[in-house]
Amino acid sequence: MSPWIDGQGRKIDYLRLSVTDRCDFRCVYCMAENMRFLPRQQVLTLEEIERVARLFVAGGVRKLRLTGGEPLVRPGIVGHCERLAALPGLRELCMTSNGSQLGRYARDLRAAGLARLNISLDTLDAQRFQAITRTGRLDQVLRGIDAAQAAGFAGIKLNCVVMKGRNADEVPALVDYAIAHELDISFIEEMPLGQVGRDREESFCSSDEVRALIAERHELLDSAEHSGGPARYVRLAQHPRTRIGFISPHSHNFCATCNRLRLTAEGRLLLCLGHENSLDLRGLLRRHPLHDGPILDALHAALQRKPARHEFSAGGEVQVLRFMNLSGG
Ligand code: 5AD
Ligand code: SF4
Repeated sequence: MSPWIDGQGRKIDYLRLSVTDRCDFRCVYCMAENMRFLPRQQVLTLEEIERVARLFVAGGVRKLRLTGGEPLVRPGIVGHCERLAALPGLRELCMTSNGSQLGRYARDLRAAGLARLNISLDTLDAQRFQAITRTGRLDQVLRGIDAAQAAGFAGIKLNCVVMKGRNADEVPALVDYAIAHELDISFIEEMPLGQVGRDREESFCSSDEVRALIAERHELLDSAEHSGGPARYVRLAQHPRTRIGFISPHSHNFCATCNRLRLTAEGRLLLCLGHENSLDLRGLLRRHPLHDGPILDALHAALQRKPARHEFSAGGEVQVLRFMNLSGG
């Protein structure tokens, strides 16, 4: 089967699959307070997602990441992981989770063949945690992180969206937590996806500012390492087991090497997080339940339209109307 090469000659070997738009949290950077979720029949079935994954892996995709919403609120998620992890040719099945259900699921996920976990953690203060997630509980997530480590997951990475006035002052404490638990941590600039009912510009905190905060306390060593994603990494001279990542969507530094596509929960294949440009795969999958040919043709044609770069502006106004929970980060 022909490999996945886009119109700019970039090889696509990474597919992110949003398995649900639902979540038990309502994070202020991701959702509006009152979200309406998709009716079930508009959400891809797990079988449909597995079909798409199989086609992509057969053509050279080596890494799959399950996202949401929160992937662990989707019923049947463990069996889904097991079937995806078994796809021949796949190197790594990963998941991004808010951690709330890991106490319950970590061991089963590990046994199912899930290789890596990214867990969101924006603050270590219980009240702030509730303010940022609106419905989440910090102690539950901390227990989830412990459960994931106890289940034997290696290379767990924490994700932290940094916002002035909410958690930016906690960057050093979060780094200390990562060091104490021998975890990696990435600090993320907030992306302008969806109207979430607050002014993002006011709280915007650049990766350069975050880096300066950490450099006040730690000697940083630049690193050429890549996780196959857009993060730039530094190491801590005194703490070799923790890497610090910076994800800076406001710069274009990662577009030229973009190797990824996203499948939304409703079956839209997003060619770029910063464009509305997409392919309605759900319609195709349902019109052609037995024949992959028309789907493969449409996928190859869509790849020719993958944009060269995203168009987030520094001012952070909303050009992309979809909320983050549809495309899963
Ligand atoms: N900007 C940046 N990151 C976001 N995430 C969700 N919404 C945004 C946003 N607007 C990230 C968070 C979360 C993951 C699922 O997606 O890091 O942990
Ligand atoms: Fe849920 Fe993650 Fe969005 Fe928070 S950022 S509401 S945990 S999907």
